[in-house]
Amino acid sequence: MSGFFITFEGGEGSGKTTIAKMIKDQLTKEGYSVVLTREPGGVEIAEEIRNIIHDVKNTNMDKKTEALLYAASRRQHLIEKVIPALDKNCIVICDRFIDSSLVYQGIARGIGIDEVYQMNLFATENILPVRTIFFDIKPEDGLKRVYDNKDREVNRLDLETLDFHQKVYEGYLDICDKYSERIVKIDASQNIEGVFNQVIEKIKEII
Ligand code: TMP
Repeated sequence: MSGFFITFEGGEGSGKTTIAKMIKDQLTKEGYSVVLTREPGGVEIAEEIRNIIHDVKNTNMDKKTEALLYAASRRQHLIEKVIPALDKNCIVICDRFIDSSLVYQGIARGIGIDEVYQMNLFATENILPVRTIFFDIKPEDGLKRVYDNKDREVNRLDLETLDFHQKVYEGYLDICDKYSERIVKIDASQNIEGVFNQVIEKIKEII
């Protein structure tokens, strides 16, 4: 594999999806081959798994079932889309990856970060991004953006309590320290242009 695998991480309403599209457009204009994709989803089977996990009627889903479904969707997406694109020397920008599982399932759901990491190794065979960008915004500010944006799909996790999203935020801060050689933090509370400039700078450092 010789492309660049870059992932974007953050809580709800951190703006990473909007910025990912802008980054893809900018890098494409500059002549790079860029694949923009997302988790859970990105390919048909994984999108179907996404629908099951996020369906607001599935409130009784067990937390380990949820973690396994994210890992299943991750593997399918990796095998079908990410690895082939990296083999073609593309820059792959993925909206969420393993760190989301470590934080949401491992920390916020309380399964344990090491347990979730080990379980994910079966799915990813230890393929990790070369750079992960964490969009740092306080959960209450992110959630305000979600509820102010009427066009955004609201999923089962958006409906969790503020306490859950606070744990997610603190979890991200922990893994930023734990994996400081891979994860960089940007200030996502700025306006779109300010966030875009920080992210493009971080990406240009490695491509
Ligand atoms: P998003 O597409 O709006 O970012 O929503 C994806 C949701 O799924 C978000 O609430 C985070 C959650 N999620 C996990 O809990 N674990 C995971 O491994 C992934 C990829 C996402």
